[in-house]
Amino acid sequence: MDDSKTVLTHLIKTRLQGAISKVFPEADPGLIQLQICTNPRYGDYQCTSVMAIAKGLKLNPRKAAEEVLEHLDLSGVASDPELAGPGFINIRLLPEAVTQALLQAARTGSCFVQPSDQTQTMVIDFSSPNVAKPMHVGHIRSTILGDSLARVARLLGHKVITDNHIGDWGTQFGKLLVGWKKHLDAANLAKDALGELERLYRMVNQACEEDEAVLEEARQELVALQRGDENNLAIWKEMKEVSRLQFDQIYERLGVVFDHAHGESFYNDHLHSVVQALTEKGLARDSQGAKVVFFEGQPDLEDHPALILKKDGGANYTTTDLATLDYRRKQWQPDEIIYVTDGRQQLHFRQLFAIFKQWQPESNILLSHTWFGSILGSDGRPFKTRSGDTIKLNDLLDEAEERALRAIKEKNPDLPEQTANELASIIGIGAVKYADLLPNRQTDYVFDWDKMLSLSGNTAPYLQYACTRIRSIFRKASLDEAAFLAECIASNMELVMESTHEQTLARKLIHFGLILESVLSDHRPNYLCNYLYELAGTYTSFYEHCPVLKSEGSVQTSRLLLCSLTRQVLEKGLGLLGIQTPSFM
Ligand code: ARG
Repeated sequence: MDDSKTVLTHLIKTRLQGAISKVFPEADPGLIQLQICTNPRYGDYQCTSVMAIAKGLKLNPRKAAEEVLEHLDLSGVASDPELAGPGFINIRLLPEAVTQALLQAARTGSCFVQPSDQTQTMVIDFSSPNVAKPMHVGHIRSTILGDSLARVARLLGHKVITDNHIGDWGTQFGKLLVGWKKHLDAANLAKDALGELERLYRMVNQACEEDEAVLEEARQELVALQRGDENNLAIWKEMKEVSRLQFDQIYERLGVVFDHAHGESFYNDHLHSVVQALTEKGLARDSQGAKVVFFEGQPDLEDHPALILKKDGGANYTTTDLATLDYRRKQWQPDEIIYVTDGRQQLHFRQLFAIFKQWQPESNILLSHTWFGSILGSDGRPFKTRSGDTIKLNDLLDEAEERALRAIKEKNPDLPEQTANELASIIGIGAVKYADLLPNRQTDYVFDWDKMLSLSGNTAPYLQYACTRIRSIFRKASLDEAAFLAECIASNMELVMESTHEQTLARKLIHFGLILESVLSDHRPNYLCNYLYELAGTYTSFYEHCPVLKSEGSVQTSRLLLCSLTRQVLEKGLGLLGIQTPSFM
């Protein structure tokens, strides 16, 4: 291994994995973790994996850890690792390893992150709105979470395939076709396509409730569409296209890009072969004219059989997802598929995963349902407009930008219009994204404009502002940051960090790579938000206690380097949350 390029935490982890494999050759290196010590009294890092392995093998965990320590060589990096309690291995970095890590980060721009040695292929299925329905705030969490996970996974060296599983097929099209043929307002369609489709849908839906004949008409239109009627197919395609254009506008505002947007209809031709395969395997059975998968012997699903073919011969959401899963397996051979949707779909995914496991038991794809809670209004009820309608994503983003613009203009009335607008977009959209990613995703959270746009507290504007403040230190010192870094590297400088505030900040920076690994393994970007907020706090106490501009010589250079690396990690971290950083605020 070329240690001059290996990131410090990666090096420790690799050595630890090596030592553990010597004692337990059958242990899966992927499961061996290095954790950050929450209490620095015990050291910087801790490993509990040996205890877990020993427990699995019914061995004495402390003895097992002792044996591992005999093989663990961390010379030059950490002081002698300590064994604590029932078998914790505690690791304390040597000060020179810390300074070396900082210089290396300055030299390589790695931000203390190194791609994994165990590259995985991951499919991330997220956003997935429905055609002919506007994207609403519920879709925002999926879009923002999925995008952030994809960014983190890519930075960690994995092969990521993002697929927007758009709901572009289904019973709603019967009603929409009736509406389109009879009541289409072409001008409105050109202006606000999704709004017009929603209007048509509501109108016909209402009519169906009042008049059986309209319902029958919608059914006929749907059957014709499914049969491949040319006119209906052409209208359906147009509805899909106009919806797509509007979705794309939103993705552009959010800076979200997909590798694929196959959508549900892409699998239409495969649905019947899925039903056939499951029937032949004896997994799906006839039940009152429909085909159903029963989960006998699976206590959590026994009461929830899954319908895969309706009485009328139509397939459904589950059938489509089975065909999708089969396609993704064949097409991309993923190690993991991550589905990001709200918590109400938990049963659906448990059924889907259980069916797939029985259908293709040889497949060892890790299937993860990464679910999230709701966004609530200040009254604690689902977030709605004043009139009780669901809030459209576009309107929400408009309001975020307007609010940010007002605050910017108040503070900085002379800013040119375009600059102010650009800044408002970075701040407003950043604030919404951050507020969405910060809470534990499985809890509901209250949407609060004032809180999310505040310059203090755990918010995006606070972190963005921290970055701009660091930039201004370099401006005040009349230094070009990039040139300063180049100079540090070229002169092979010695770092001096005598204050504990400097030491603490340096160590916090080095943690970044491990934080990203835990974000990815638990699918929780909130770990990253909290880390960045803590980093900004650690930086503030460093800055209060260790004068930068008033110091001199190598003390000043070392402090400036800490400033620059903090800014780099903050910006990189925000970038992984899909949030940009302005050059000034
Ligand atoms: N279109 C669905 C919805 O809005 C979400 C689809 C999620 N992905 C999947 N493969 N089922 O609820």
